[in-house]
Amino acid sequence: MKKLAYGLKSLIILLLIPITIFSQKEVKDLSLMPMPENIQLNDGKFLLDKDFTIVINKNEKKLFDAAYRSIKLITDRSGLFLNNQFPFVQPDAKGKGVVINISEDVELKLGVDETYELVVNEKQIKIDAPNSFGAMHALSTLAQLLDSDEAGYYFPGVTIKDKPRFVWRGLMIDISRHFEPIEVMKRNIDAMAAVKMNVLHWHLTDDHGFRIESKSFPKLHELGSDGFFYTHEQIKDVVNYAYERGIRVVPEFDLPGHATAWVVGYPELASAPGPYVIERMWGIFNPTIDPTNEEVYKFLETFFIEMTELFPDKYWHLGGDENNGKQWNANPKIQEFMKANNLKDNHALQNYFNVRLDKILSKLNKTMVGWYTDEMPDISKDYIVQAWKGRTTLYETAKKGYRSLISHGFYIDLVQSTEYHYNNDPIPPDSILTDEVKERILGGEATMWAEFVGPETIDSRIWPRTAAIAERLWSSGSINNLNNMFNRLDQVSLQLENYGVTHIKNQDMMLRRIANSYDIETLKNFVNAVKPLYTYSRDRPHIAKSYYPMTRIVDIALPDPRSARLFNTSVDELLSNEKINSDCYEKVKSHLETWKENHKNLLPLIKARPILAEVEQLSEDLSKVSLIGLEALELIKENKKADALWITASAEILKTAAVPKGEAELAILSSINKLLAKVN
Ligand code: ACM
Repeated sequence: MKKLAYGLKSLIILLLIPITIFSQKEVKDLSLMPMPENIQLNDGKFLLDKDFTIVINKNEKKLFDAAYRSIKLITDRSGLFLNNQFPFVQPDAKGKGVVINISEDVELKLGVDETYELVVNEKQIKIDAPNSFGAMHALSTLAQLLDSDEAGYYFPGVTIKDKPRFVWRGLMIDISRHFEPIEVMKRNIDAMAAVKMNVLHWHLTDDHGFRIESKSFPKLHELGSDGFFYTHEQIKDVVNYAYERGIRVVPEFDLPGHATAWVVGYPELASAPGPYVIERMWGIFNPTIDPTNEEVYKFLETFFIEMTELFPDKYWHLGGDENNGKQWNANPKIQEFMKANNLKDNHALQNYFNVRLDKILSKLNKTMVGWYTDEMPDISKDYIVQAWKGRTTLYETAKKGYRSLISHGFYIDLVQSTEYHYNNDPIPPDSILTDEVKERILGGEATMWAEFVGPETIDSRIWPRTAAIAERLWSSGSINNLNNMFNRLDQVSLQLENYGVTHIKNQDMMLRRIANSYDIETLKNFVNAVKPLYTYSRDRPHIAKSYYPMTRIVDIALPDPRSARLFNTSVDELLSNEKINSDCYEKVKSHLETWKENHKNLLPLIKARPILAEVEQLSEDLSKVSLIGLEALELIKENKKADALWITASAEILKTAAVPKGEAELAILSSINKLLAKVN
């Protein structure tokens, strides 16, 4: 009996071997991000050839255009010379390639059905969706599936049934502190669509610039923007561009604080007499709109009516954050108004202001969104709260009956790790919220505040980390394996370049500018081991002005740099095994050897380029700590401990190396510390 069982087992194993060897990739190996809700692998694959095309059952322009872009993307990557450049529209859609069937054309709005099904087999690729928005998500998934081997380019056989976990998956871009040209907005919209994000929250006004043309009040943009603003035509173009990619645009006009740029041209709106000038420093400033002035409401109503022509979405963000209240406290007329109207403090006054604005927006059929500050405004339950200071807010406001969004934990401007953002589940599995309350948590937004980014660097602060956030907001919370996420993210990050974002390529360009040479290898070795300092620790004491250059090492270094991550992962793996894993050992050693030698090779360039002077010590630190790492590695290999004097001296060097220089810091120090701890 036992023998027979063994025999059967061996037979099964023998039968399985060829299947395992020749089977396609596993689901986890597909470079999909966000991971679909349901995915199964099918036998076979769809091989691309020159007859490939996309056929759509309805003549729907934005889907046709999306299909055309997909064909272009596929041919760009595969180099195939296709017979047909454009998709076809056929009511009874059939064809050699992708066949898309949608049920109806609908308007893009919050909660639009974004589901889709995608089936790839040897003969055909089928996309079924209720509308174009779902179908476009399917095309994004398909683009991520494109693969190749010796036989050619292909799509692996899959059956995917997909829908988002949250309905609001946004990216906020601040273009006030630093302006971003239209093409920067567009390429980021394309990248957002590629990872199925659906809200662009456009922070259009702040202390540093009023970035939108106003025909009713031209001094807003003429005096409040240094000439860097979008015309009506440009805004319409971007809003339409986003719409055609399934992305709603929510404008933000930040009020009553963060209002300097409003009052440069119209000082009469402020709570203290002007004149005012555009703010050049970073921080929280005094200019605040006067909520007791009736003219303010007339002004804002006229302005909002003008803006309704440009922003069709139902949701409008009116800011509401960081009003320091100084102008209100110092203004006797405002204090009198508060007494007369029984408004006990500035919160009550801000609440009064919000209620008035809410009424104006309601008349225009718009719903207000705001940064939650400390107390909930006493306004209609339609109001959407954006929780940014903590996640308690998210839950408390949802419990009170408001819909809410989370941005706390998604502040990508702070240059924190991908892992940190990825783990920021808006509703973790152990949540005790009722289903009704959970329903009110609509999703979240990554926030790209722009104190320290410009057109050259903004993409590298957004991507690829925001793709991990996009997954957190689209996919089930149970999709949370970090290693697997990073494997997919590395692939998707490369693919995002196809949409024009410059998060990878601009680094070399910026290094070449510093080096003034084609040879940037040593500089790049250094930069890849470095990360920018946590944003809230930068510019202390405040000296930076908004027109200062963003071309230094701190600007070129990437948040969560990939090569440092690969090194750190190898160190963790090496130290987690009793027996030395020789592959890991060699990887760690090779990194350390490169870095150990790097400083002396880089020094001549540092001396020749004063822009690098601020990181000379950091470059030397990298070499010194790498030497410590190598010495520890040798001891680990020999299974020996270090002597106490060496440990003390090394710990001292590591401590000095941990001090940031030039607003940058080493991204590999924790690993060197781990190596040291191992031999202590
Ligand atoms: C904010 O970060 N001030 C909303």
